[in-house]
Order: sequence, then C-alpha cells, then structure tokens
Amino acid sequence: MKKRFVGATVFIGAVVAGGLLWASSAQHVDGASLPVHTADLANGELLYHIGGCISCHHPAKDSGADMSLPSGGAPLVTPIGTLYPPNITPDQATGIGAWTDANFVDAVQHGVSPTGQHYVPGFPYISYGRMKVEDVLDIRAYLMTLPAVSSVRKEDEIPFPWVIRRGIGLWKKMATMPPIEADASQSPSWNRGAYLVNGAGHCAECHTPRNALMMIKEAEAFDGGPHPEGRGQVPSLRDLIGRKKYKDVDDLASALTEGEEGFYDGLVKGGMAEVQQNVSKLPAADIHAIAEYLGSLK
Ligand code: HEC
Ligand code: HEC
Repeated sequence: MKKRFVGATVFIGAVVAGGLLWASSAQHVDGASLPVHTADLANGELLYHIGGCISCHHPAKDSGADMSLPSGGAPLVTPIGTLYPPNITPDQATGIGAWTDANFVDAVQHGVSPTGQHYVPGFPYISYGRMKVEDVLDIRAYLMTLPAVSSVRKEDEIPFPWVIRRGIGLWKKMATMPPIEADASQSPSWNRGAYLVNGAGHCAECHTPRNALMMIKEAEAFDGGPHPEGRGQVPSLRDLIGRKKYKDVDDLASALTEGEEGFYDGLVKGGMAEVQQNVSKLPAADIHAIAEYLGSLK
C-alpha cells in the first residue's frame, strides 16, 4: 500500500514536472510570419542608441577591443549571477552574422536563443518585446552594417544554468507585457515619447519596481525602487516638474540632452549616465517627445 502510494506520488510528480518542462520549453517565431519589410537603417541606428545595446554589449575595458562596437564580454551583474552579454556584431562564427531575421526577433523580443534556450531577463527583452517587429528588423539591419569583430562568448557565472533557464520559460509566461498601444487622446509627440520610453528605451526596467517574482509592476509604473543590478535606489520619474526637479518639459529635454555636462546632477549614478548619453544621440524632436511623455506622468 505504502509502496503504491510512493509510486503514485512519483508518477504524479513526473507528470507535473513534464508539464512544467513542456510549458517552459521555448517556441520559435515562424520566419514566414514575419512582415515583408524594407530595412530603414537610420531608424535602426536610432533605436540601437535608445535601446542602449552598446551599454551592455561593449567589450571588457581591459580587452583592447574597440569600445564603440558591441562585441561583448563586459560583466553584467544581475540578481541571479554575473553574465557576459555576447558579441552582436555580424561576425559569422562568434557574432550574429549567420543568424536569420527570425533568430533575431526570437532573441530580442521573446528571449529565445537559436537553440531554444531562454535568455535571462538581464537582457531587457520584456521591454523590447513591446516594440513593432519592423523596428526590431531595422535594428538587425543596422547591426549588420557594423564591422564584424571576432569575440568568443565568455561563460556566464550563474548557478544551475539549465534549471534557471527552464524556470525563466515559465516566468516569461507571466512577465510578458503587451505591445504599446497608441493613445488617441494624446499628441503624436507624446505617443512617440511613450513608444520610445516603454519599448526600446526600456526605462521601466530600472524605474518601475518589481514584485517578489522580479516582474515589472505595471500598476506602479515609474515609481522608482531598488536598482535591478543592486546599485542602490532608482528614483521615481513621476511628477518631475511638479516636484520641481525640472522647470518644465524643455528643461527636462535639456537634462536628457546634456546630462552632467549641462550641470544636471540627477542623471549620473547607477548606469543613468550611459542611458543619458544614449538618449542624447537621438534627434532633438525625439528627446523632446520623451520629455513630454515623462513630464505628463503625475
Ligand atoms: C541591460 C543589458 C542589455 C541591454 C541593454 C541589451 N542586451 Fe542584449 N543581451 C544581454 C545579455 C545579458 C544577454 C545574454 C542573455 C543570456 O545568455 O541569457 C544578451 C543577449 C543578446 C542577444 C543574443 C546573442 C547570442 O549570441 O545568443 C542578442 C541578439 C542581443 N542581446 C541583442 C541586443 C540588442 C539588439 C540590444 C539593443 C536593442 C540589446 N541586446 C541590449 C544584455 C543586454
Ligand atoms: C540601468 C538602470 C536605468 C535605466 C535603464 C534608466 N534609468 Fe533613469 N535613472 C537611473 C538611476 C540609478 C537614476 C538616478 C541617477 C542619479 O541619482 O545620479 C536615474 C535618474 C533618471 C532621471 C532623473 C530623475 C531626477 O529625479 O532628477 C531621469 C529623468 C531618468 N532617469 C530618465 C530615464 C529615461 C528616460 C530612461 C529610459 C530611456 C531611463 N531613465 C532608464 C537608472 C536607470
């Protein structure tokens, strides 16, 4: 009797585990379902900058490699361990030169590797997943214009990677966020700002608090909270003008454009200086659109 009970438990356990593994196994984007799209390289470059790709994918400081190219290798500390964001230059053997468009969309929007592994969310694919797929294809087209750099991926330092990556598959089912919807009651530039902030800009990944499962709490969007890389606190982006952090939307746009050089001292620590430098590469109208959207958060 007891033996049978144990047997049944093992059986049920195996079924549940099998179900979980099935649920957490990665699904690939069907290449044929991607839109027919003529790449817009200027748009790809703009989104590459606001996407902050270089901030994580730059080489290690002591590597001697060109810091302006995303050949990977610098450490990124995340709550589950240290990762080395890989080479995303078009090198065939060690970069993404041999990838298909579907491989790229899988990675950037769904956090799935060509071999079906789940990427860890230190790679902000939850936010990138909210972008239009055409925009993601433009980033890919822009990356393909960069010089290819040979740089082999450095081994991650995460415990039990197989279990963790499977677990992330389940986590994603809950953590995935919807595409960004236009708000017809707002101006085109407000909508442009909202799109850049919530999609490629992935500002919420740091500025919105997370729940116990490390999921972005949409109901508390931009309230600030602990830094996801353990670098102190991230401030709230709500009511920046009402709280007299900035005089008006123009002043906020200047802060995003000039940062520390313009004697704005609130955009320096915890990776924000790099974010500000990336934002400053955008056309003035886009920076203003971001400021207009942020300034409207009450
Ligand atoms: C906050 C840091 C961060 C930013 C910003 C970031 N990435 Fe990454 N990226 C990572 C990490 C970490 C990985 C590896 C994840 C893993 O292996 O689980 C990764 C992996 C990738 C991969 C998979 C490469 C491979 O060989 O498997 C691609 C493609 C990629 N990133 C593209 C981009 C693009 C394009 C951007 C900008 C739009 C970007 N990333 C911005 C951290 C980042
Ligand atoms: C890597 C985490 C991270 C990301 C991503 C990030 N921020 Fe920040 N942000 C910070 C931190 C940390 C600070 C506080 C910096 C300081 O105190 O010097 C900050 C400060 C700011 C401030 C100044 C707030 C104040 O009270 O003066 C603004 C404005 C801002 N961020 C906007 C943005 C925008 C817009 C984006 C997206 C394009 C963004 N941030 C993405 C971490 C981040």
